[in-house]
Amino acid sequence: MLICRTAAIAKCRYVVDVGSGLGHLDRLLAYGCGFRTCGIECNEKLIVRARNLDQLFEKQARAYNRDILLATNTPIHIRYLIDPTIDSVEFIKLIRDAFETDEPFGIVGLHPCGDLGPTLLRLYQSCTNIKFINIVGCCYMKLTTCEETSSNRYGFPMSRFAVENKFHLSYNAREVACHAIETYLDRLRTGQHWQFKIHAYRAALEYLIVEKYPQLGRTALANVKYRTEMSFSEYCIKALKHMDSKLITKEDKDSDMIKTFLQDWKAVVTFYSIRLFFASLIESMILLDRYLYLCQETNDDGSCSLITLFDPLLSPRNHVLIGKRDQQRVCSAVNNVL
Ligand SMILES: C[S@@+](CC[C@H](N)C(=O)[O-])C[C@H]1O[C@@H](n2cnc3c(N)ncnc32)[C@H](O)[C@@H]1O
Repeated sequence: MLICRTAAIAKCRYVVDVGSGLGHLDRLLAYGCGFRTCGIECNEKLIVRARNLDQLFEKQARAYNRDILLATNTPIHIRYLIDPTIDSVEFIKLIRDAFETDEPFGIVGLHPCGDLGPTLLRLYQSCTNIKFINIVGCCYMKLTTCEETSSNRYGFPMSRFAVENKFHLSYNAREVACHAIETYLDRLRTGQHWQFKIHAYRAALEYLIVEKYPQLGRTALANVKYRTEMSFSEYCIKALKHMDSKLITKEDKDSDMIKTFLQDWKAVVTFYSIRLFFASLIESMILLDRYLYLCQETNDDGSCSLITLFDPLLSPRNHVLIGKRDQQRVCSAVNNVL
């Protein structure tokens, strides 16, 4: 496993999983690999469920083999919101209090949303006690860009190169970067493009929402899976399940304008397909910017890498950015200087 290898090079037994969700990765690292783990998660409900899952796992494991848990520590889960303004002193204190030790540790982030990924990279750069970092990207549209904030803690761009060259990505561009072209291509190739009628439904519903309630423009609609013969009206009920479904009336849905629009649903599929051509390119810009940021801070000494790890059909955000403070490399660098 990648984390085990990185941790071994960095001689690290402690792992902090930031944005840990239900703590699946923590359990795997603790019970499966023997690490001491601490999951940091801002959602209290997920923390409670993560602790329950730990207990359930231990109960089941004990039923099979009592010894299996002897050498293992139950993962620690703490509720905490890592703000982009957090400094290294505050972060190190948080981890010291959790593990009750000053031992060095590594950070992992499996799909840390928006600015959380860049914040972790900054923490890694500023704390030598963090011996490695492994992060996989997620939700790029939630990144703050330099144009959107007066703070210098924005999520894009990060590297000196991208800042100096004034790289800019709009919200729409960042949103496209989160889409999965592999699954989409698979469906186009196997003649299942009819499933994409759902994109025309969504476009029509969003059009109606923005026309009537501009302030609801970026409200998240529920995900709906298309099935044959699903009508636009059925779609609207499902997509608006977290909102007031009466926002959009029968007259709105049955209007001639919407009918004409929906007849032309293949144009939306064409538009969406062209848009997707840019997805990998934009994601590469974001990932390479982060990679350059890590390299520039380490004088490109080979301690950072960006690799593909997961099958994109299973997990489209499949690149891992790795930074490690290699003990031997650090020692030999110091010896060279001496
Ligand atoms: C996409 S989920 C990934 C969850 C988990 N790592 C996994 O792969 O199953 C991202 C998680 O990060 C949490 N999160 C987002 N921003 C955070 C922040 N600033 N501080 C702490 N947790 C955060 C969210 O609540 C969410 O559970």
